[in-house]
Amino acid sequence: MKTKEQFAADLEKQFGEYLDRNSIFHLIEVPKQPEHGDLAFPCYPLAGKMRRNPALIAQKAANELETNDYEKVEAVGAYLNVFLNKQQTANAILQKIIQEEQNYGNSQGGQGEVVAIDMSSPNIAKPFSLGHLRSTVIGNSLALIAEKCGYKTVRINHLGDWGTQFGKLIAAYKKWGSEEKVKKNTIKELLALYIRFHEEAEQSPELEEEGRFWFKQLEEGDEDAEALWKWFREESLREFDKIYKLLGISFDSDEGEAFYNDKMQHIIDVLTEKQLLTESEGAMVVELSEDNLPPCLIKKSDGATLYATRDLAAAVYRRETYQFSKSVYVVGNEQSLHFQQLKAVLRKMDYSWWEDIRHVSFGMILKEGKKMSTRKGKVVLLEDILQEAIELAKNNIEEKNPGLADKQSVAETVGVGAVIFHDLKNHRHNDIEFSLEDMLRVEGETGPYVQYTFARACSLLRKGEYQPAADEVIGCDLEAWPVVKLLDVFPTVVHRAAEQDDPSQIAKYVIDLAQAFNKYYAGTRILEEGKWKGQRLGLTFAVSVVLEEGLRLLGITAPEEM
Ligand code: ARG
Repeated sequence: MKTKEQFAADLEKQFGEYLDRNSIFHLIEVPKQPEHGDLAFPCYPLAGKMRRNPALIAQKAANELETNDYEKVEAVGAYLNVFLNKQQTANAILQKIIQEEQNYGNSQGGQGEVVAIDMSSPNIAKPFSLGHLRSTVIGNSLALIAEKCGYKTVRINHLGDWGTQFGKLIAAYKKWGSEEKVKKNTIKELLALYIRFHEEAEQSPELEEEGRFWFKQLEEGDEDAEALWKWFREESLREFDKIYKLLGISFDSDEGEAFYNDKMQHIIDVLTEKQLLTESEGAMVVELSEDNLPPCLIKKSDGATLYATRDLAAAVYRRETYQFSKSVYVVGNEQSLHFQQLKAVLRKMDYSWWEDIRHVSFGMILKEGKKMSTRKGKVVLLEDILQEAIELAKNNIEEKNPGLADKQSVAETVGVGAVIFHDLKNHRHNDIEFSLEDMLRVEGETGPYVQYTFARACSLLRKGEYQPAADEVIGCDLEAWPVVKLLDVFPTVVHRAAEQDDPSQIAKYVIDLAQAFNKYYAGTRILEEGKWKGQRLGLTFAVSVVLEEGLRLLGITAPEEM
């Protein structure tokens, strides 16, 4: 009886001196064309190590494999293709899933090492942008995937809660602000104050001076300024929390930029000691010309520290506090220069772990091809967008399943799930076109489609009164074979998603699995009484387990009815 795991074990017997079992396992592919076999092993990664033509390696391996354990073994070019015994293989895979349930696909590869994930990180007193949404959902999914692979994670919300803009905001609030209004509608009011400040400063430039004055007060710990800043921060966080609650996401730390105020002097001391600081037009910078990068600005001519200085302090703090083996920053493409500079400066400071820092960048969200802005003029609040998605999901339910219990919570799960899935199904480097109607369609490559397929599987299991029985032999009718093959590769998909920081692999996989299952469902009477019923329900159960777990890794809940 052979499965992918056993195929890997067989190959290890031949190639163990060149590749370990785990690497072999993850190299094994599932050919798109059924005539190329059920599993295929590409021999070219061995060619260099064995100093031999990959086609010859494949040929020899084919001759040596015990053919009677497989239906057929074939060498085609650099590939070793095997055809599995369908009944036995299906039985082995399905038994494994039925036994392991949501632990299917877990691995210990991470060995408890820590991954720090800088994610979300919106700016206080400003709207939570679609870019911050991307960072939040990508970061959360990466964390969930890493945990499944045996890592510990720390989710860090590096809030933008410091900088000269807070001086301006305090000045504006003191002139035109109303406590009541800010309490009621924090982000909208604070943004309006900020915009008004800039408009009026064009007429009366002395306002800028007032803004600088209040920032200085803030930096010097003036009580009045600090109280206002704290209040803006708390009220903003309260609004952001509504979004996090809807998304079902929480953080291990919300230490933002301000947290590093007393930790930057240490950075400046080290830079000075290592003679890395140079003066440029009154400012202090680290020259990075040998890395082909512009200088990294550490301290402005007026003594104020900068975004980069805070990030240096944060990187060192995280290393000391969490002892991470990898430190990930989920931040848009437009900051790639900043992170290159960050790594270069840490390297120059002789921190050996600079290499463990990773900028996981992503593209923009577009509306009709243009960047969707939350800045000037018209404000699109993310919370409103999510509420609209929930509303649309609710309308769908009213139309299709008005008798459903707990409509509101299902609508939330579906509406929010649709937004998350739409983001994660695209490779993060791509820009995404934002369309709520598209996201919520129940056909096509959407979150609701996968959720719907899961709910259909649950309903079959209920109607068939399925009880998981781990010892029952589960064979497989020919129509189910494509579904079984997909179930078999789930662990590899999780592994690749983790290695490449790429949740889209899992999103695409759950779409494929849902499509394969729906095709099977359309052509097979799963609930028909007879000798196949138990087996078909076993397969349905395994599909439901993997769909639910796949969605969970994306940060999406799957309702059992919708
Ligand atoms: N607050 C920043 C922004 O909105 C993102 C911060 C990302 N994290 C970091 N450690 N720099 O642009």
